[in-house]
Amino acid sequence: MREDMAGRLVAWLLLPVMLIVATETNDLETIEILFEKSPNSVSALWDWNYECPDEVTYTAAYKKLGAPDNESQECVTTEQCSCEIPYGLLDHSHNYTLLINATTPGGKILLYSKDFDPNCKIKPPTDVHVNTSDALVIVTFTTSKLSYIEEYNITFRRNDSKNEKSALAQSGIYIIPPNELLPEHTYCLKVNVYNKQTMELSVFSPEECFMAPARGPPDNLRMEALDSTYLLNWDWDFDRSPNPTFTVEKCHTFDSCAKIKRCENITTTQCDCSELLFIGNHILRVSVYDSHRQEKSANVIQFHPSQDTVISPPKDLKMGIKGNKLFINVSAPEGFNNSNIYHLCDWLTHLEYWTKSTQNSEVRILYQVL
Ligand SMILES: *[C@@H]1O[C@H](CO)[C@@H](O)[C@H](O)[C@H]1NC(C)=O
Ligand SMILES: *[C@@H]1O[C@H](CO)[C@@H](O)[C@H](O)[C@H]1NC(C)=O
Ligand SMILES: *[C@@H]1O[C@H](CO)[C@@H](O)[C@H](O)[C@H]1NC(C)=O
Ligand SMILES: *[C@@H]1O[C@H](CO)[C@@H](O)[C@H](O)[C@H]1NC(C)=O
Ligand SMILES: *[C@@H]1O[C@H](CO)[C@@H](O)[C@H](O)[C@H]1NC(C)=O
Ligand SMILES: *[C@@H]1O[C@H](CO)[C@@H](O)[C@H](O)[C@H]1NC(C)=O
Ligand SMILES: *[C@@H]1O[C@H](CO)[C@@H](O)[C@H](O)[C@H]1NC(C)=O
Ligand SMILES: *[C@@H]1O[C@H](CO)[C@@H](O)[C@H](O)[C@H]1NC(C)=O
Ligand SMILES: *[C@@H]1O[C@H](CO)[C@@H](O)[C@H](O)[C@H]1NC(C)=O
Repeated sequence: MREDMAGRLVAWLLLPVMLIVATETNDLETIEILFEKSPNSVSALWDWNYECPDEVTYTAAYKKLGAPDNESQECVTTEQCSCEIPYGLLDHSHNYTLLINATTPGGKILLYSKDFDPNCKIKPPTDVHVNTSDALVIVTFTTSKLSYIEEYNITFRRNDSKNEKSALAQSGIYIIPPNELLPEHTYCLKVNVYNKQTMELSVFSPEECFMAPARGPPDNLRMEALDSTYLLNWDWDFDRSPNPTFTVEKCHTFDSCAKIKRCENITTTQCDCSELLFIGNHILRVSVYDSHRQEKSANVIQFHPSQDTVISPPKDLKMGIKGNKLFINVSAPEGFNNSNIYHLCDWLTHLEYWTKSTQNSEVRILYQVL
């Protein structure tokens, strides 16, 4: 049964492809009805061979299991081939039957039904804990052993605001990206769980409040990302504190942190982070031990290579005339040596030329797809 459902979930994801290959001869005998439970309602979703044909008209109703048909209530349609029943309308001490009545363009009436249990069995994650040490905010919580089919919605807000931000986590650890939080402000956070197999969503855990940590020194963290070279720089006042040691770590939102090679206990204000993957959003933490003042502190920066990297221009421009044609050769930008950079984006060459004259200058632009 479980494997069946998992198979269907994959099939749902393939829906756009399936629609293309599906033929007109769809068979309305086999319907698939699924129930998705959220904290406030039960939704029913159905399809005929992964399709919701426009030409079929349908109504949906529900009744207590075993009750006569004249005691059914309408299940209000939300989208195509789905309807929703608020929990307030259901008696949780009974099981129910969903009834679907479909009429084909030819006037044929087809009746379908499936029983469901309105009770939600899934509970929110427990032991939600927020650790705000060393400039990072790390959220941990206890998950069931089913974590590979569950996902967790971490929702947080400033304690004095109703505006919520949220992120999906796949495991019981999540690092909130530093750009999402203002240092030294109070935030409150809650977590719920969605089981992708049973399609049940839990209520949220109780709110957990915390103070976003202070950042720095070191101050003015900045990444110089040129082609495949990522240099992280920061400021330090050596006159005031001459003997600091710095350590740089990389963190992933879904993981803990690991030290960057050759950037552990360094005394310079720069770290070569070129080992970082081009794909992904990295959180980098620079910690300092100031032996003069015997103090430790840290700062964090977010680095998203595919957005933050500068690609240097094409180089080695060569021109030659053959016959009455001008040939121009350029070699690829340095960044293209990184196959991720080359393959991840669509590149265009932009070539400008103009007539050299003191009076006027004409600029023409040519584009060529690489
Ligand atoms: C449904 O029909 C039965 C008899 O067929 C009748 O006794 C009952 O009152 C009806 N219920 C409603 C809600 O109309
Ligand atoms: C509802 O159905 C479930 C099985 O899906 C069963 O375990 C439960 O006992 C039923 N509840 C009632 C009130 O009959
Ligand atoms: C199904 O719907 C059709 C058209 O709306 C209606 O005539 C028919 O009575 C319905 N049948 C049932 C069993 O609800
Ligand atoms: C917070 O994280 C730090 C560093 O990983 C650890 O030393 C500390 O024990 C944690 N604090 C709590 C309350 O879990
Ligand atoms: C938010 O947190 C701050 C600092 O803990 C506190 O002073 C303030 O009263 C809180 N505001 C609300 C609306 O809870
Ligand atoms: C998380 O839950 C909140 C509140 O229900 C919702 O607004 C938000 O869209 C959800 N976020 C994600 C990423 O699913
Ligand atoms: C860095 O310093 C810490 C604390 O003094 C020490 O435990 C660690 O081994 C050092 N690492 C390297 C690579 O020198
Ligand atoms: C441009 O490249 C082609 C092929 O590599 C070569 O035959 C040609 O001589 C080059 N032209 C110039 C102007 O360098
Ligand atoms: C990039 O590749 C070109 C040609 O393959 C080579 O000449 C150049 O040195 C490479 N640059 C780097 C930074 O690896």
